[in-house]
Amino acid sequence: MPTTPVAADAGDLPSRLPFEILRDPRAMRARAEDLRRDGLRIAVVPTMGSLHDGHLSLLRAARARADVVILTLFVNPTQFGPSEDLARYPRDEDGDLAKARRCGADIAFVPEVPTMYAAGAQTFIEVRELARPLCGEKRPGHFAGVATVVTKLFNLTQPHVAFFGEKDFQQLAVIRRMVRDLDQGVEIVGMPIVREPDGLAMSSRNAYLSPDERTQALALSHGLAAAEAAFTAGERDAAALLAAATASIAAAPAARIDYLELRDADELTPVDRVTRPAVLAMAVFVGRTRLIDNRVLRP
Ligand code: PAJ
Repeated sequence: MPTTPVAADAGDLPSRLPFEILRDPRAMRARAEDLRRDGLRIAVVPTMGSLHDGHLSLLRAARARADVVILTLFVNPTQFGPSEDLARYPRDEDGDLAKARRCGADIAFVPEVPTMYAAGAQTFIEVRELARPLCGEKRPGHFAGVATVVTKLFNLTQPHVAFFGEKDFQQLAVIRRMVRDLDQGVEIVGMPIVREPDGLAMSSRNAYLSPDERTQALALSHGLAAAEAAFTAGERDAAALLAAATASIAAAPAARIDYLELRDADELTPVDRVTRPAVLAMAVFVGRTRLIDNRVLRP
């Protein structure tokens, strides 16, 4: 079956099957097994909903690469820490379903917490070194929650290919390693960060920002740009590159750095000098909202 090409703009991509919403994990799995039996290529785009153009770019890419596109909408409680924003995480199921349809999703899988996690669930997937630094250090248990739910979503949707954003750089690295280490047999495609016109990386959490915080949130992309400018001018020393980013972020009084690090782009090990691709990764609180962003520097 021919695949639909990715639209050059935000144009609508029709799905070729009647749009379906599935809530029961067993029904999802049965449906996926039928699709596989019919020889169809399945793509999955896992999300926590509150869809923005970053998510939609993944859906469009999936549409171009598969016969059946499954969007999952699930705010996964096991990846939130006890003092994090699970209860207030933005939700807009109706809006999400309309966008999903428009961007070519065939199936929306929207499970509930009790059907995803049976009482007494006690099996979790631990990715070790890659999940330790950065967000892993600041959010203990976060990547075990992500790796476990992504595996469950893979089991239920039986995808040939899955799409993730480079916005969550460490998450993408953790998932790639998990799939490789556990022979999960899913092709993982990473997609570039989609930004607002002024440079702020799109995020469901941007909805938390007050108008003043929204302005100050540009500290993140400005910090990355400052480091990249120094890098382009020939700077290779990690401390100097980080200092350029830090100075730029310090100009925003509402911004507080949670972490700001330069690490090897593949192994996420610390880097003193950039001699191979490195990722400048940051998490910054703007008011109470924690935002992440990153840029890969390639010598
Ligand atoms: P969520 O934050 O909803 O993101 C879903 C997917 O969209 C992730 O792969 C993320 O990297 C991607 N994404 C988010 N913002 C983006 C942007 N500005 N540009 C490009 N891609 C972007 O990440 C999660 O959900 C969850 O951890 C999940 C993988 C669904 C597991 O629960």
